Amino acid sequence: MSKLQLSPLSLYRPPLFSPENSIFRHRKSTIKCSNDRQALFNRIAPVYDNLNDLLSLGQHRVWKRMAVSWSGWKEGDALNLPFRGDCFDAITMGYGLRNVIDKERAMQEIFRVLKPGCKASMLDFNKSKQPITGFIQEWMIDNVVVPAATGYGLAEEYKYLKSSIQQFLTGEELEQLAHWVGFSDAKFYEIAGGLMGNLVVTR
Ligand SMILES: C[S@@+](CC[C@H](N)C(=O)[O-])C[C@H]1O[C@@H](n2cnc3c(N)ncnc32)[C@H](O)[C@@H]1O
Repeated sequence: MSKLQLSPLSLYRPPLFSPENSIFRHRKSTIKCSNDRQALFNRIAPVYDNLNDLLSLGQHRVWKRMAVSWSGWKEGDALNLPFRGDCFDAITMGYGLRNVIDKERAMQEIFRVLKPGCKASMLDFNKSKQPITGFIQEWMIDNVVVPAATGYGLAEEYKYLKSSIQQFLTGEELEQLAHWVGFSDAKFYEIAGGLMGNLVVTR
């Protein structure tokens, strides 16, 4: 069984999703191009594991060891996956969709490489519609994540988390986008009290 982990169409396009005004493709972003986005993560990369030791109390190393033992490793652009179509039985993406500059394109690529009938799961921060959840999320970023990142000289990079969540899609919008891209089923599950969310789609 082939699984892809990542560090799609209908003839009728409703107006919301037309290329000119798709809310997904053109949502305003403070970081506009792939190179800027890559540069941001290149600055974070050298201390990413150390910071996650603090933020996940070391658990991320266990999760990653498990994930790597279940699958192979190949680096590539999530917006142009280096794989032929219809070749994966399952795909997982962790904290990736929010960070790509074109979410519609990333989902199209997942749709393309997934075998018909198979599922993909995309875990990320939840852009909650509940003001209290958003408040707790921002409080934790301001008071836990950014101070921890400050110790590694990455305060500015981690402040981007808040704007990236504000510019992300709600669970309902993610389900709409998945259907628009062509997935036959899309369900968004809020987890961790709504702070995080997992979009599960079926091709
Ligand atoms: C928050 S990190 C998540 C990394 C990992 N999945 C994890 O959970 O630890 C987001 C990652 O997305 C990557 N990224 C952003 N745009 C990408 C693209 N177009 N193709 C591949 N990776 C991309 C960044 O380089 C960064 O490593």
